[in-house]
Amino acid sequence: MKRVLALLVLLVFLFPCVVFAGGGQEKKVEEQKLEIFSWWTAGGEADGLEQMFKIYKQKYPEIEIVNATVAGGAGSNAKAVLATRMQGGNPPDSFQVHAGHELIDTWVVAGKMEPITFIFKENDYIKAYPEGVIDIISYKGEIYSVPVNIHRSNVLWYNKKVFSDNGLKAPATFAEFFEVAEALAAKGITPLALGDNGIWAATHMLESVLCGVLGPDKYKGLWDGSTAWDSSEAKKALATYVEMLQYVNTDHAALGWDGAAQYVADGTCAMTIMGDWAQGYYTSKGLKADVDYGWIPAPGTGGVFIMLSDSFGLPKGAPHRDAAVKWLTVCASKEGQDAFNPLKGSIPSRIDGNRNLYDVYLKSAMDDFGANSIVPSVAHGAAASEGWVTEINDVMTFFVSDQNVDKAGADFQKAAAKYAK
Ligand code: GAL
Repeated sequence: MKRVLALLVLLVFLFPCVVFAGGGQEKKVEEQKLEIFSWWTAGGEADGLEQMFKIYKQKYPEIEIVNATVAGGAGSNAKAVLATRMQGGNPPDSFQVHAGHELIDTWVVAGKMEPITFIFKENDYIKAYPEGVIDIISYKGEIYSVPVNIHRSNVLWYNKKVFSDNGLKAPATFAEFFEVAEALAAKGITPLALGDNGIWAATHMLESVLCGVLGPDKYKGLWDGSTAWDSSEAKKALATYVEMLQYVNTDHAALGWDGAAQYVADGTCAMTIMGDWAQGYYTSKGLKADVDYGWIPAPGTGGVFIMLSDSFGLPKGAPHRDAAVKWLTVCASKEGQDAFNPLKGSIPSRIDGNRNLYDVYLKSAMDDFGANSIVPSVAHGAAASEGWVTEINDVMTFFVSDQNVDKAGADFQKAAAKYAK
C-alpha cells in the first residue's frame, strides 16, 4: 500500500512535465518559456518589441518571455554572441536577423534553420506579403524567416528649428548639402551628426553617399560586380564622403547612432543620416515628425529607397519550439506588425497594414516604398553576406580616419573581387 501511495505521489509530481504518448512512449512537455534574442535596446526599437510581447502575453499568458538583448546598434555585438551560441548548440528560441544575405548566407545555407513555410501556409499569409519580400527570405522554395518590417536606410533627419532660424532648406542634392553645411558651420553649428562607435554607422552613411552619387543601378552593380569600387565614379562617391566628414561632430567615434540622433534633437548638430529607426527613437522621446524634426531622402537619393528588413527565424533545436512557432505567428500577423511598427519607426512588411496607425513620416515611407526604386542596404545585411560586410566595415575603420580615397577604393575592390556575384 505504501509503495502504491509513493508511486502515486511521484506521478502527481511528474505529471506536469511528462505526458504519455501513444505506444507507451513518453514525451517531455516543453517548459513554458520563450527566449527572443535581439539587439533592440534603444528608444523606439525596445518599445516596438515590447508591443509584440504584449500581444503574445495576452494570447499565451502561461508562457514566460525571456527578452535576451545584447546592446549595440545594427547587431554589432549581438551577432557575435549569437554565433557563439549557435556554434555551441545553444540557440535561442528565435532571433532577430536581417532578411536577405545575412539570413540566407549565414544561417540557412549552413543548415542551421528550420523552414517555416508552413506558418505562412497555415495562416494563408503568403499573399499578404509582396513577392519581393518573400523572395529575400526564401531559399530553394522554402521560407526561412518572418519579416516584421521594412526600414529605410537613406534618410537625412534635420532639426526644423535650426533650419528655419537660419533660413535654410533641407538639402536634396550634394551641392545643396554642402551649401547648407557651410552656412551652419559659419554660425558655429555642427552640420552633421555621426555616431560611429559601432563602425556600421559610418558604413550606413557610406551606402547613402554611394547610392546618391552612383544612382540606383550602378549602386546595385557594386554587389554583383558590374560596378568597380575603384572606378572613377565610385571614387567620386568616396571623395564626396570625405568632404562630408569635414562637417561632422568631433566626438563621433565615441557616440552611438542614438546619441547622434539626440544631437540633432537638441540642436547641437543640424542633420544626421540614419535609418528610420531614428523616427522610432524620436517618437520614444515625445518628438513629432514634421514639427520637431524633418526628413528628406539623403542627398542625391530622391526616388530611391534603400531597404532592409528585420526578421525572426526558427533555429534548429530551438529549446521551446512550439512557443517559438507561436511567436513567429504573432510576428507574421497584421495585429503584431501594426502594434510593432508605429513605435519601431518602420512600415509593415505586409501589404495590409492599417495606414491610420502610422505618423506622417511613416505614411511617406509607405508611399515611397510603393513608388521608388528599391535597392538593398549593405550595412544591414540585405545586399551582401556577413563576411563581405565585415570586410567593408574593416576598410571603413581606416577610411574614416585616414580619409585616403585611393586606398579605400582599392581595398573595397579587393573585398568585392572575393564576394561579388
Ligand atoms: C538595424 C536594425 C534596426 C535597428 C538598427 C539600430 O540593423 O535593422 O531594426 O535596430 O539596427 O539598432
